Amino acid sequence: MVNINIDGALCFPGARPDYEAAKAALKTLTEGTGAGNAFLGWTKLPFDYDKDEFARIKTCAKNIYENAEALVVIGIGGSYLGARAVIEALLSPRYNEIPRKGPKIYFLGNGINGEDLAQVLSLVEGKSLYVNVISKSGTTLEPALAFRIFREKIEKTYGKAEAAKRIVCTTDKAKGALKSLADTEGYECFVVPDDIGGRYSVLTPVGLLPIAAAGIDIDKLMEGAAKEAEVCLKDDPEINPALKYAATRQALYQGLGKKIEILSCHGESIRFMAEWWKQLYGESEGKDHLGIFPASCVYTADLHSMGQYIQDGERILMETFLSFDEPRVKVEIPATKDNGDGLNYLAGMEYRKIYAAAQQGVKKAHMDGGVPCMEVSAPALDEENIGALIYFFEAACGISGYMQKVNPFNQPGVEEYKKNMFALLGKK
Ligand code: PA5
Repeated sequence: MVNINIDGALCFPGARPDYEAAKAALKTLTEGTGAGNAFLGWTKLPFDYDKDEFARIKTCAKNIYENAEALVVIGIGGSYLGARAVIEALLSPRYNEIPRKGPKIYFLGNGINGEDLAQVLSLVEGKSLYVNVISKSGTTLEPALAFRIFREKIEKTYGKAEAAKRIVCTTDKAKGALKSLADTEGYECFVVPDDIGGRYSVLTPVGLLPIAAAGIDIDKLMEGAAKEAEVCLKDDPEINPALKYAATRQALYQGLGKKIEILSCHGESIRFMAEWWKQLYGESEGKDHLGIFPASCVYTADLHSMGQYIQDGERILMETFLSFDEPRVKVEIPATKDNGDGLNYLAGMEYRKIYAAAQQGVKKAHMDGGVPCMEVSAPALDEENIGALIYFFEAACGISGYMQKVNPFNQPGVEEYKKNMFALLGKK
């Protein structure tokens, strides 16, 4: 379901994808013989997940969908970005403004900003409120602080017994402060599997519960991921787009010294898919003083802000366009009698077609400017294709990380700021 076109990278002499190395990396991944092999649960997830828990997610999500007017989803990093990415892609980035069934959804605990919290507290006032707090470790400061505040709010509003029915925790099966609290208070809990790291966890309860509570069909999401997994674990770059993507970006990095990859997205809806992708690749590959820095743009808006640099700044960039072939809504340009704006040459043309021309024009310009380009696309922006894209990017990330000879499944660097912050805050 995911298509990749790497022609725009192959035009650059010196960027030859090393498919033998990519296949070896894939073998390391599928045989579980590489660094971080205790965190490969995501590779089998679309076929091998806890069906009872999946059914429980759907029941809990249905209850929230039907009874909540506001759902506050508390989490950060891998416990946040995937759900937001899927919800924005499949509903709209304006999901709280467009008329639809189901609760308004607020993501919190993804920063340290009292203003955000105060705003959401006032927005949910008087609304039927549910909270899903998500933290694998159960100890991360940002979500823990937000949960402290929203737990108090929900208990004050409904009393402890009813609050316990409105708070749902997604955390480790046994350890962490959140799990202990949930057991003491009797909150419903969902498990973040031991063998899946935060940034690979969108297809676990971490992502699935808020996504389902937003009214999105998680069966289809999993089906799309399962279909994509069938091709992304194959040993043949002609069939497997993940092998092609991983091998090409590593060729551009290792062969041509392109140190930054821009994921250029078509439209606002997939802005957060790019945010999710940035964590996936940045946290997986950025270690041992190595790694491609993942950046993103939304086109065509960012051509009017970042376009100059991409065209003409430091030649350290590669670019991957991400788009969907079929628009969900077709909007045609109308003809006008006076043609006062001179745009009648576009009359009758559909927006997606205009964007296709823009993307090809941009790609040519950027390549002429020395930026190797790839194109990743899926036929439509729907549950199955988003599931497929998630699996594609995850598989390619594992392969690419092993090609770069790092452990793609740890994140030791994330701890450094915490040590300093806790020392300054006087944590014992
Ligand atoms: O990918 C990761 O491991 C991190 O981004 C974590 O997801 C993030 O730090 C949140 O951690 P936790 O779920 O333990 O609160």
